[in-house]
Amino acid sequence: MSEKDCWWKGAIVYQLIPRSFSDGNGDGIGDLQGLTSRLGYLRWLGVEAIWLTPIYPSPLQDGGYDITDFKNIHPELGDLAGFHRFLIAAHSHGMRVILDLVLNHTSHLHPWFQRARWAPKGSTEREVYVWSDDRSRYRDAPVLFRNFETSNWEWDDVAKQYYFHRFLRNQPDLNYENPWVQEQMLEVVDFWIQRGVDGFRLDAVPFLFEEEGTRCEGLKETHSFLKKIRKRVDESGKDILLIAEAIQPVNEASKYLVNDELHGAFNFALTAHLFAAIASGSIHLLSDAICEAQQVAPECSWALPLRNHDELWLGDGHLVSEEVVKMIRAGLHQGHGHWLNWGINRRLAPLLNGDPRANRLMHALLYSLPGMPCLYYGDELGMGDWPGLRDRDPNRTPMAWTPLRNGGFSSAPDPLLVLPPITAPGYDYRVINVEVQKELPGSLLNWHRRMLTCRRLLPALRNGDFQLLESSHPSVLAFVRSNETMTVLVAANLSAAGTSLYLDLSQWEGSRTREVIWGAEYPQANDNWFIYLPSYGFSWWLIGEVDEALVQSNSPMKDS
Ligand code: NOJ
Ligand code: CA
Repeated sequence: MSEKDCWWKGAIVYQLIPRSFSDGNGDGIGDLQGLTSRLGYLRWLGVEAIWLTPIYPSPLQDGGYDITDFKNIHPELGDLAGFHRFLIAAHSHGMRVILDLVLNHTSHLHPWFQRARWAPKGSTEREVYVWSDDRSRYRDAPVLFRNFETSNWEWDDVAKQYYFHRFLRNQPDLNYENPWVQEQMLEVVDFWIQRGVDGFRLDAVPFLFEEEGTRCEGLKETHSFLKKIRKRVDESGKDILLIAEAIQPVNEASKYLVNDELHGAFNFALTAHLFAAIASGSIHLLSDAICEAQQVAPECSWALPLRNHDELWLGDGHLVSEEVVKMIRAGLHQGHGHWLNWGINRRLAPLLNGDPRANRLMHALLYSLPGMPCLYYGDELGMGDWPGLRDRDPNRTPMAWTPLRNGGFSSAPDPLLVLPPITAPGYDYRVINVEVQKELPGSLLNWHRRMLTCRRLLPALRNGDFQLLESSHPSVLAFVRSNETMTVLVAANLSAAGTSLYLDLSQWEGSRTREVIWGAEYPQANDNWFIYLPSYGFSWWLIGEVDEALVQSNSPMKDS
């Protein structure tokens, strides 16, 4: 398959938490049945791939990232037959399905861990996890969940040893030095490929192997194992996407983006710079971050999130200045910024002070930059959060579908709901929900849908080259995406003040220019091309003529 044909190149990914999306059987917990019934909505919106956070059996001590059986479905979500029905339905709607795959650890209740702690010290069964007689091993590995844990080691009274855990003490790390572990996880990959999934989001990839005297991140053995997964996936002969979750600066995260390793990785550094740019009104560091991101192998691609089910990472003081971090927290609508382990556990809308113009601008950039835009469920509505909930629950609350009870998420009595639906002032589900926003032509939801429809007609935004343009204004980012069918100019004003400026379009001197979203004709391109961008304004312009036939044949979801 050529690079241009990869289904995931520029695909619109929609991340959802199945427990919080839609409850099909009325027990208060979102499930596969409910999700299947909402596929028409996702297709209507313009989603191309659905990423499900973990759906496996789990005691849910870490939102399902603590798994007890990698080859099954959590009974509250359904079963394997229900998953099959969901997958077939998603495919028949023209959407792909990406599963979360947690490689680094299991739940402490996983049978492998229970067997390990009772097995003799040093036996193969014990060595499925990482053990030590004292806590001095791997002391350079930082504790990640700083709010919950003080050490990466936990004493086990049965095993009479400490076990290693990079996350919660309920999530012991698998021992990848043990070939049995590697083979088991490769079989998990096979299992889900055989069931028809289209891709995997590989959780916490940097941490698979440990080595004394290092931070135990991104070691060469870890890369070698990921290459084994890639080989296995390639051997299936299907176009399976592998995306790395590595919350690291671009120069580290890009190490997974190699021809024979992973196809994609989240660009969390770009996310941090987007928030910093809109908080400070300055694009200086953002444009550097965007340019840096373009240095990866052309076959590989970044996944571009704004928010997700975790904290908002702002780079641990290395990417974004303390002053800007303070500005982001200070701007938070309703209460203070909630700093959890290493970031802010709030949703997009409150982080943008409830301003739909800022929501549109941030998403417009995702929809314009090279990579896979990742939309977090509810952000297409500007859904709010519940800052008082524990851990990362503030941004994991039920999807708002209708103004009816529980936002149409579930018919169950309130106390049974997985999490409380949002009724916070300004974000009440009786106003912010799918049904109401569908009816309002100017709603955020209809804006997202229009943008995604428009984007499908502009394949250069999906797979085109990227060129940053010199901008004469410190708040305006301008760049061009072009492929063989068209050239698209993008300009975005990251400041709350409207602004006019001149762009140098002499490369396209004399070409026709048209604004795409509203369809306005602009003056021919020249070296002093004038534009006005309102507060948080942005636009897409076509430069020159377009090969309409080629555009049509290039656009995915032609019939929608
Ligand atoms: C990253 C996941 O996104 C997060 O939710 C989880 O807590 C950790 N990995 C551990 O699996
Ligand atoms: Ca249910």
